[in-house]
Amino acid sequence: MTAISSKPLLETLSGDRQKIPPVWFMRQAGRHLPEYQLLRKKEPDFIRFCMTPELATEATLQPVTRYGVDAAILFSDILILPHIMGQSVWFEANKGPCLTPLQSDADIEKLATETVPGKLSPVFSTIKGVKKALPEKTALIGFAGAPWTVATYMLEGKSTKNFSVSKKFGLENPDSFQKLINLLCNVTETYLSAQIEAGVDVIQIFDSWAGVLPDTLLKSWVFNPLEKIVQGLKKKHPTVPIILFPRGAGIHHAHIAQHTQADALSIEQTMPPEWIKTHIQPHKIVQGNLDPSYLLAGGNLLRQETDRILSQLADKPFIFNLGHGIDKDTPIAHVEAILSQIRGE
Ligand code: CP3
Repeated sequence: MTAISSKPLLETLSGDRQKIPPVWFMRQAGRHLPEYQLLRKKEPDFIRFCMTPELATEATLQPVTRYGVDAAILFSDILILPHIMGQSVWFEANKGPCLTPLQSDADIEKLATETVPGKLSPVFSTIKGVKKALPEKTALIGFAGAPWTVATYMLEGKSTKNFSVSKKFGLENPDSFQKLINLLCNVTETYLSAQIEAGVDVIQIFDSWAGVLPDTLLKSWVFNPLEKIVQGLKKKHPTVPIILFPRGAGIHHAHIAQHTQADALSIEQTMPPEWIKTHIQPHKIVQGNLDPSYLLAGGNLLRQETDRILSQLADKPFIFNLGHGIDKDTPIAHVEAILSQIRGE
């Protein structure tokens, strides 16, 4: 097939298998890079860091400059949207995100929905700055969190292990919860559409906490909202590829693969490559799915595990990535080693 683009990631997403699969890493920009640690000192307030185009542009470009990965992912955060909608969001060192939790229908009613995309103009400046500086072969990925995952932070007010506050709220207050999900669908679609208009080549939607839901809730809390956003984006921007990451969906990835209008599925490390090959690759492009711990540990086990994934999945159009974000203690040398292996150097 003739190449329709000089970017391996876009070629793969259009169904054109690359001899060397394109590779990037979730959370590649950030704390495992010493140059990020240094840059971060210039602005200790994380939200302000994300909303300062010069800093966010540099952070986006750092992993591309260091590793030559096939994609840059916009440096921002999924919690920028709740912040823009008027909820208090802040980040405390070693504690992660903190928000003033939504506790009632009245709290949901107070959220601003008209502020998008006006207040987000620094993000669009970052996208434009990155586009100017990126090598021709490198794709730029824009992103947002999925409604369910963002709603968990908005309702819990912090990272959580059992999601009991958000699940209880959703089960006890179905109308208010649906109002919140619908609102997030609309705001997220508008935000992603504006990211595309500013110049991103690909969209990835992170549903990091899809896997904590029983299958009875997965359809209405995860799949339907994701699909509403996907269909809205496809109507407006039919040629822009979309990657979904409903992390932990497990065997339900097969249902999603058969019914979504998105182009690709990013799959967590718990799914065997053999299963992915049989159940997902006939329907969608696959991205994944190395356990970040192998990249942390390095050595022979990393090499073997990478080979296992490549041998199962890389004979079809495939994007090499992790099953979740890169660990902050990952040695640079391990990232360099895996890149050489994938590239056959
Ligand atoms: O390379 C990249 O992916 C950078 C852009 C990016 C960040 N966050 C920067 C960030 C992206 C795509 C995200 C997505 C994100 N944010 C998700 C979905 C992906 C996933 O990992 O599941 C989630 C759940 C969040 C929410 C969030 N933001 C948490 C839980 C935390 C604290 C814990 C952590 O991993 O650091 C953040 C902060 C955050 N977002 C940092 C970075 C680089 C660390 C901030 C710092 O201390 O410098």
